Amino acid sequence: MNAPVILKAAATLTAPALVLRPWCAEDVAALVEVYRDPELRHRTNSRMESEDDGLRWVRAQEQGWAAGDRFAFAVLETALDAAPLRLVGNVVIKEVASGKPSAEVGYWTAAQARGRGVARRALNTLTAWSFDAFQADGLECLELLHQVDNLASCRVAEKNGYQFDRILPSAPPSYPLDGHLHIRRADA
Ligand SMILES: CC(C)(COP(=O)(O)OP(=O)(O)OC[C@H]1O[C@@H](n2cnc3c(N)ncnc32)[C@H](O)[C@@H]1OP(=O)(O)O)[C@@H](O)C(=O)NCCC(=O)NCCS
Repeated sequence: MNAPVILKAAATLTAPALVLRPWCAEDVAALVEVYRDPELRHRTNSRMESEDDGLRWVRAQEQGWAAGDRFAFAVLETALDAAPLRLVGNVVIKEVASGKPSAEVGYWTAAQARGRGVARRALNTLTAWSFDAFQADGLECLELLHQVDNLASCRVAEKNGYQFDRILPSAPPSYPLDGHLHIRRADA
């Protein structure tokens, strides 16, 4: 990717529009703040105790863009007044490779922004962009994994046409519970 990719998701009747753009060092303070949420810590494996951890994580995302195998977007919410954009989430497509038919998506939403369609709309935007960008290079389907007790994530998957495929066995310590594999095909 040469130019930075900036994507948009439209506003709804009850929630502002979203801007998706690659993570950058200016996001670190907000990222560490968002990670104070116990649910986010429980659901992800990233260490985020300090700004150093945050910067390391952002640098890893930048490396993914540079290597062309992982594309993570900060999800920012617009405001009606001229206030700066606010960090509300993350969406990522990972394990992308030329000629490889599948890749995986992931996401989270900041605790204070949950329940207003941020994950659903951001994933919808990421999915469309991913097939636009990589289908010609062999991408046929996107996979989405969540643990069986993550009902909100299951709902986000289904609302975006990621159909339930099968149960995945647990893999402790990172995945102590069984999981769901959902798949979205390019021609869905
Ligand atoms: C899962 C997560 C990303 C959802 O983010 P969000 O922005 O709140 O999601 P949305 O508002 O787009 O949609 C959530 C849907 O789940 C539903 N939902 C929320 N909690 C639920 C629950 N406990 N049981 C069933 N459905 C639930 C909501 O009602 C909504 O469905 P609806 O639009 O039909 O009403 C968010 O909870 C999160 O970040 N959790 C921690 C990290 C994580 O689990 N990431 C995913 C790892 S696979």
